[in-house]
Amino acid sequence: MDESTLSTNYIERTVTYVKQELINAEGGHDWWHIHRVWQLARHIGAKEQVDMLVVELGALLHDIADSKFHNGDESIGPQKAGNFLQSIGTPEPVTRHVVNIIQHISFKGGNHRQEFFSPELAVVQDADRLDALGAIGIARTFNYGGFKNRPLYDPTIQPNLQMTKEQYKHSLGPTINHFYEKLLLLKDRMNTTTGKIMAEERHQFMEQFLRQFYAEWDGKA
Ligand code: NI
Repeated sequence: MDESTLSTNYIERTVTYVKQELINAEGGHDWWHIHRVWQLARHIGAKEQVDMLVVELGALLHDIADSKFHNGDESIGPQKAGNFLQSIGTPEPVTRHVVNIIQHISFKGGNHRQEFFSPELAVVQDADRLDALGAIGIARTFNYGGFKNRPLYDPTIQPNLQMTKEQYKHSLGPTINHFYEKLLLLKDRMNTTTGKIMAEERHQFMEQFLRQFYAEWDGKA
């Protein structure tokens, strides 16, 4: 098989695997989240100097075992992804790079420093962040809040912007606070030019949503 046939084969097998693994996933972290991130990563990656196979596999496998759904264990996802890629025979440097992407993609609170970086990680991270923004981001945030039985909003509980990595993981605050603790911070953390432009638009949409939300909350709209 030539290289592009091989790549297509790796990707197809990965798609089948991920769909099956995420069959019972929470609505914001299911196959369709992966599908959106994958499409976004291809769109952003097309304008960057990247190994597209690494980008696509990274996007497809980035939430294969999200630590939020595994008692905070961050080692399961990279390990599962690595084992799977080994089993389908992707070249060792590709496997290693994808595992590194999965280990370093996620947001662990505003004060956490990132220690691995590559252009491929930059693309996958932007794609994943974009899916946390805009209309889709709002829908996913409330779905996750419902999954955790969090209140929609509680004006007596202020957002906590100084959370440590541990506090961030276990936060029980209202869903609206999550906009201030994470979502509205993401546009300034985008890596690529395409990602920045798309994030800006999605950010503005969320600001508009919040204005309307508070107006309705106060019975003024
Ligand atoms: Ni994700």
